[in-house]
Amino acid sequence: MNYTVSQLLTQDITFQPIEIKGWVRTFRANRFIALNDGSTINNIQCVVDFENTHEDLLKRITTGAAVHIKGDLVESQGKGQTVEIQVSSIEILGDSDPEDYPIQPKKHTFEFLRENAHLRTRTNTFSAVMRIKSNLSFAVHKYFTENGFYNMHTPLITASDAEGAGETFRVSTLDPKNPPLNEDGTVNFEEDFFGKETNLTVSGQLEAETYAMSLGKVYTFGPTFRAENSNTTRHLAEFWMIEPEVAFMDLAGNMDLAEDFMKSVLKYILEHNREDLEFLEKRLQDEEKTKPQAERSEMSLIEKIRFVVDNNYKRVSYTEAIDILKNSKPNKKKKFKYIIEEWGADLQSEHERFLVEKHFKCPVILFDYPANIKAFYMRLNEDGKTVRAMDILFPGIGEMVGGSQREERLEVLKEKMKALDIPEEELWWYLDLRKYGTAVHSGFGLGFERLVMFATGMGNIRDVIPYPRTPQNAEF
Ligand code: 4AD
Ligand code: MG
Repeated sequence: MNYTVSQLLTQDITFQPIEIKGWVRTFRANRFIALNDGSTINNIQCVVDFENTHEDLLKRITTGAAVHIKGDLVESQGKGQTVEIQVSSIEILGDSDPEDYPIQPKKHTFEFLRENAHLRTRTNTFSAVMRIKSNLSFAVHKYFTENGFYNMHTPLITASDAEGAGETFRVSTLDPKNPPLNEDGTVNFEEDFFGKETNLTVSGQLEAETYAMSLGKVYTFGPTFRAENSNTTRHLAEFWMIEPEVAFMDLAGNMDLAEDFMKSVLKYILEHNREDLEFLEKRLQDEEKTKPQAERSEMSLIEKIRFVVDNNYKRVSYTEAIDILKNSKPNKKKKFKYIIEEWGADLQSEHERFLVEKHFKCPVILFDYPANIKAFYMRLNEDGKTVRAMDILFPGIGEMVGGSQREERLEVLKEKMKALDIPEEELWWYLDLRKYGTAVHSGFGLGFERLVMFATGMGNIRDVIPYPRTPQNAEF
């Protein structure tokens, strides 16, 4: 019978003839194959005791080769594993040139593996990351489904720029060398494929709001595109965002939902990816040892995850946060790159990380931001200068979630759009929601890859997505 490595290592099936297919990780002493098939971080040891007449075959058992093995599962004679396969026959399904196979059994740098991203999931680190990511994705759908949410697919091609930051990728079939022009020399997008200027979506929120105002609780989980030229370890030009949207829910309910959701999905991987997490934890501990004592993390990976699953997030208003930052040591000693001088300043990631990692030492939910540093759709507070926004900040990551209670009052929303030069004709359907049965509603967006970074301890967002899209880079 055909088995996976995971089945062989966890089920009680010793002394049975078995078959297995996988890739050779190493072949030692012309006798021991470490075989992996992706089903688990662990390899199974396959013992080859062939006569010397099989020399040609043995030569072809090289790192990276695909093989089909038949044999018996027996209790292991050696240390390090409980069972092993006593091989009776081995077929090489695909050779691997031992000279130039990039994934040699040694330590590779992440930079090198990024250049070989098509092969990097053949390493323990990347296969562990992707198994965790897959389970996290499942946990996301599980959480929302079990809590009465409907999944919806919002369009990827749209004519709106929900966040208003102007960081969109244009979608067009016009000839860039010879576009049709208006009389004033501007491009005539009426002749473009959709009859108007369109772009890839920066958020599914606006469309999700339309469904929340009929189905009650909805969420989208899909690709999102941002043409921001930020070459950081936390930004991608193409990433996946989870966006729930709920009718009749205010900002406090939004915070409760986000916190409960984060805890639930992280708990799921603690329960279902133990071995992968233990492997990544060990990897991180080795990496930490190379850092100066003062910079080393006090908690291990699993402790960090457990911490945010078990502890309440600190809820702090923007105004309180500014006070803390103004009086903080790095601000007074001018250690911050951007010194906080007055209320209204936009928070940079150095400030967010100070609050989370040095001051509160736990995830922080900041709320009630100044209206003028946030998007047009957020609900204006009674003070007339702050909006019902919230950001969730995580240790090591900074901003994980951005959300808000939405402006449900037609006149206030119209005024806001006017002030920001957003034409009403463009968002007539969005304004309709405020005309017909408007109600308090809220939602948030979570950058899925940032969540995966936190869950795996990976330091660069490029290492938690199969083929990262970043400025100057769209390989594979
Ligand atoms: O804070 P943002 O821009 O919020 C929105 O787009 C809202 N429409 C969400 C909503 O209320 N429905 O983005 C939400 C999250 C951020 O907190 C961050 O985790 C992630 O998306 N994100 C990115 N992740 C990777 N690369 C980028 N370039 C990202 N930009 C935002
Ligand atoms: Mg944000």
